[in-house]
Amino acid sequence: MLRPVSLFFALAALSVATSCGDGGQTSQNRASAPPLTLEEQGRKAFAACAICHSVKDPGAPGYTTMVGPSLFRVAGAPAGHVSSYNYSNAMRESGLIWDDATLDAFIENPQMIVPRSRMAFAGEKNAERRAAIIAYLKTLE
Ligand code: HEC
Repeated sequence: MLRPVSLFFALAALSVATSCGDGGQTSQNRASAPPLTLEEQGRKAFAACAICHSVKDPGAPGYTTMVGPSLFRVAGAPAGHVSSYNYSNAMRESGLIWDDATLDAFIENPQMIVPRSRMAFAGEKNAERRAAIIAYLKTLE
């Protein structure tokens, strides 16, 4: 009595499997679309930073200070680069210039590079994601 029913399910499963195959084909086609640039990947990864950091010009009308300073034009700037932001003494006195190496080290482990920094972020441990974020930061001119 149960047999025709299980045959039905077997056929249903088979047709699902077949349509999944088609789905795979489609996503393969989609994968051949141009991949995201490093900067675009960084813009996405920056979501983890955007909860605390604006990327807007702090001098522009309507700018509101978030938990952290704006990262507008941070690449190449000295630590504590937003004059209206109340940095920790640790950050202000670090003497760092934000180049590729210092940004990479800070994003990987903020407390290691600037002990007692107020940036409450454990660090981005993935080197590729850090490189993408830094590439994105350099576009903020
Ligand atoms: C929980 C909030 C928070 C998150 C998340 C966060 N930051 Fe920060 N960030 C801060 C604060 C606060 C400071 C100021 C630290 C100080 O004064 O010691 C800061 C400072 C910085 C500075 C130094 C800026 C300057 O003007 O010298 C950089 C660069 C920076 N953050 C990058 C990042 C990046 C990139 C990410 C994401 C991977 C990130 N931050 C995530 C809060 C955050």
